[in-house]
Amino acid sequence: MEAAVGRGGRTTTMRLALAVAVALVAACGVRVCHGTTDTQDTTVLRALLDQWQNAPPTWGQSDDPCGDSPWEGVTCANNKVISIKLSTMGIKGVLAADIGQLSDLQSLDLSFNKDLGGVLTPNIGNLNQLTTLIIQSARLYGAVPARLFSDPQLNQVILDDNALNGTLDMGRSISGELSTVSFKNNEFSSVTVTSSYNGTLALAGNPVCARLPNTPYCNVTQRSLSAPYSTSLVKCFSGTCPAGQSLSPQSCACAYPYQGIMYFRAPFFHDVTNDTAFQALESMLWTKLDLTPGSVYLQDPFFNSDSYMVVQVKLFPSGDTAYFNRSEVMRIGFDLSNQTFKPPKEFGPYYFIASPYPFPEKSSSSKSKGVIIGIAVGCGVLLVALAAAAAYAFVQRRRAQKAKEELGGPFASWARSEERGGAPRLKGARWFSYEELKRSTNNFAEANELGYGGYGKVYRGMLPTGQFIAIKRAQQGSMQGGHEFKTEIEMLSRVHHKNLVGLLGFCFEQGEQMLVYEFMSGGTLRDSLSGKSGLHLDWKKRLRVALGAARGLAYLHELADPPIIHRDVKSSNILMDEHLTAKVADFGLSKLVSDSERGHVSTQVKGTMGYLDPEYYMSQQLTEKSDVYSFGVVMLELIVAKQPIEKGKYIVREAKRLFDASDAEFCGLKEMIDARIMNTNHLAAFGKFVQLALRCVDEVATGRPSMSEVVKEIEVVLQSEGLGSSSTSASTSATEFDVTKGAPRHPYNDPPPKKEKEVSTDSFDYSGGYSFQSKVEPK
Ligand SMILES: *[C@@H]1O[C@H](CO)[C@@H](O)[C@H](O)[C@H]1NC(C)=O
Ligand SMILES: *[C@@H]1O[C@H](CO)[C@@H](O)[C@H](O)[C@H]1NC(C)=O
Ligand SMILES: *[C@@H]1O[C@H](CO)[C@@H](O)[C@H](O)[C@H]1NC(C)=O
Ligand SMILES: *[C@@H]1O[C@H](CO)[C@@H](O)[C@H](O)[C@H]1NC(C)=O
Ligand SMILES: *[C@@H]1O[C@H](CO)[C@@H](O)[C@H](O)[C@H]1NC(C)=O
Ligand SMILES: *[C@@H]1O[C@H](CO)[C@@H](O)[C@H](O)[C@H]1NC(C)=O
Repeated sequence: MEAAVGRGGRTTTMRLALAVAVALVAACGVRVCHGTTDTQDTTVLRALLDQWQNAPPTWGQSDDPCGDSPWEGVTCANNKVISIKLSTMGIKGVLAADIGQLSDLQSLDLSFNKDLGGVLTPNIGNLNQLTTLIIQSARLYGAVPARLFSDPQLNQVILDDNALNGTLDMGRSISGELSTVSFKNNEFSSVTVTSSYNGTLALAGNPVCARLPNTPYCNVTQRSLSAPYSTSLVKCFSGTCPAGQSLSPQSCACAYPYQGIMYFRAPFFHDVTNDTAFQALESMLWTKLDLTPGSVYLQDPFFNSDSYMVVQVKLFPSGDTAYFNRSEVMRIGFDLSNQTFKPPKEFGPYYFIASPYPFPEKSSSSKSKGVIIGIAVGCGVLLVALAAAAAYAFVQRRRAQKAKEELGGPFASWARSEERGGAPRLKGARWFSYEELKRSTNNFAEANELGYGGYGKVYRGMLPTGQFIAIKRAQQGSMQGGHEFKTEIEMLSRVHHKNLVGLLGFCFEQGEQMLVYEFMSGGTLRDSLSGKSGLHLDWKKRLRVALGAARGLAYLHELADPPIIHRDVKSSNILMDEHLTAKVADFGLSKLVSDSERGHVSTQVKGTMGYLDPEYYMSQQLTEKSDVYSFGVVMLELIVAKQPIEKGKYIVREAKRLFDASDAEFCGLKEMIDARIMNTNHLAAFGKFVQLALRCVDEVATGRPSMSEVVKEIEVVLQSEGLGSSSTSASTSATEFDVTKGAPRHPYNDPPPKKEKEVSTDSFDYSGGYSFQSKVEPK
């Protein structure tokens, strides 16, 4: 079946003709191909052309934009212009004020023309057929006419990454059709929107969000960082390709690219719109990979939440062929996966993840070529999927078998229950092979180390799916027996809560014990407070982190079955994901509270200096209230940002010493407060928070609240944040925090603890956190 294989000139020509025909049909769609364009519309287009450089060459070549030689990007119906699509044309100039006169215009896309300036004409409100307005990443400034939003057809407005300013006023009669309004990264200082508007509104990256960061429309996670650089559209104006194919920038014909994503871990530049850099990468790719000049297409570079620069790459076969053959694919894949290919040096180290390549399926008959291509591609995909599924099933079976054979002993029951259809006690947690984890961490490379502790090292890994994981690898000497390890896994896999770092799986093979956790890109609370991670937490974010962590602990104490005491609550065990959701990590030191022992558990003292409950330390009676004490220390850390013990000063003692109930604003702690939150005027309810923290660090366990009480009180603090600072109450008795109570035998008054108490100062700084190399500061 030559056509599908795509070799040989004649069949390729036919295929091309077919593609062109499809493209023409698609493009012609509603266009009346003969006739004379409405005079007013022609005048407007000519006025635009006069203001622009780099308009498509066909613009102005004929007198009739909708006529026999149409102006590219312009679509007409009944001799009226209904759509203009000129994304990424490199247009320079200004958006002329006449657009409002294109009376039948339904859709306007001028995105990614970064040198297109100007203001939005007030007449844009006259366009009552307009459904879509997209001018992302240009240089528009000034106000947005409120009348725009009352256009009854209007559905989508995307004007991200401009310099629009003043007040965004969406007017009183917002179109009921309007579903998406996005003005991210503009300069709006205020916003007016009626509550009847039920679509989305995104304003992250505007000055208004610096003042009102927690309003829904300032939601950071909606922010898109994708940027304009892409090459092929500039050369090939029109044409759509069948599924799986793309327009080759070299031939402007459809072909099956070899594609994937390059992740640059530490590029030396941060401007994803820097054409020079990406052009250099392009030519390096085609030179080093032995491709035809111009056959590389780079798309949408952006920085992801790990601060890696992500670039989509498509590599096209040469000249008139639609496919790479297998030897070429193997070669390219190798050069990229083995890093034989070296990008320009300002891009730094990278890794590449390829998409599966859709090889043509051979077949003998030759019916309608289009149909055959479709079938061939479909079958190819199906076969690849079937083969992948079969391979996966095989691997899984092997793995289960291996688990059974190699481990026998403690894990045999899991293997058996898997045969019966799954291991019920292991919700979600799965078996990882040693090889798999080795590969995911590049042979446990030093560069992938996230942390180190008494237990061993923590590594970052990446699964073939692109998912990041954190691997806690026990070192020789800290291994547990197989049964203990199994018990720990069973316990961990039973605990599922939004505010607890989840266990993904484990490895118990080749003398290794490893736990695999979800990866937390926000790093630890400690690194954020110390400034090490570059993640700045303002006062409200700190409150939310406190609330999240408190909820996670309350779950462990009160809802987990059986309950779990964490035993090592500290700021380096509180991690944050990319949405800054706080998650409590490291149950490595956790101990189940069995019903018979309910009340207290007597055990060796473990924990971290600075966070240790003095009562637990002295009596060795472990209760949930020991976690409450440690959490109180974390709350104080949120206020002062320093380590609990720094320069010989103990945070708890200092706070108790300075506490002054009559100081409604700062509770006497003004001199301790972290300067970064001092400057915000959101410190309402600060006093309540301080008093709660001090109750948590009460010397005696009975004087401390339970974790669920802590959760409730932080919720109240967060609610009253919006109500102004006058609500701060200073009624709590100061004597409750009397500094002398129990002081003489306090562990932090005493000389350093004795060895046999096993107080670990560097206990395993656990799980998924990782330190940012560069600054990531959510707007
Ligand atoms: C908006 O920006 C323009 C150009 O930078 C400036 O001239 C104008 O004063 C600004 N308007 C407001 C309301 O800030
Ligand atoms: C939004 O409100 C309009 C009327 O104001 C209504 O017609 C429309 O169905 C609503 N859309 C949604 C998604 O609720
Ligand atoms: C922010 O947006 C994400 C995704 O759109 C959504 O899941 C999340 O709930 C939003 N958060 C808030 C606080 O609105
Ligand atoms: C763009 O990148 C090139 C090198 O790739 C560099 O020389 C140039 O300074 C960069 N331009 C900007 C504006 O950052
Ligand atoms: C694959 O393609 C390359 C370049 O087009 C060519 O040199 C090579 O002979 C082809 N290999 C096979 C097995 O067809
Ligand atoms: C694979 O990459 C390594 C390191 O870059 C290099 O030494 C080796 O020669 C490459 N292998 C081949 C077959 O090119």
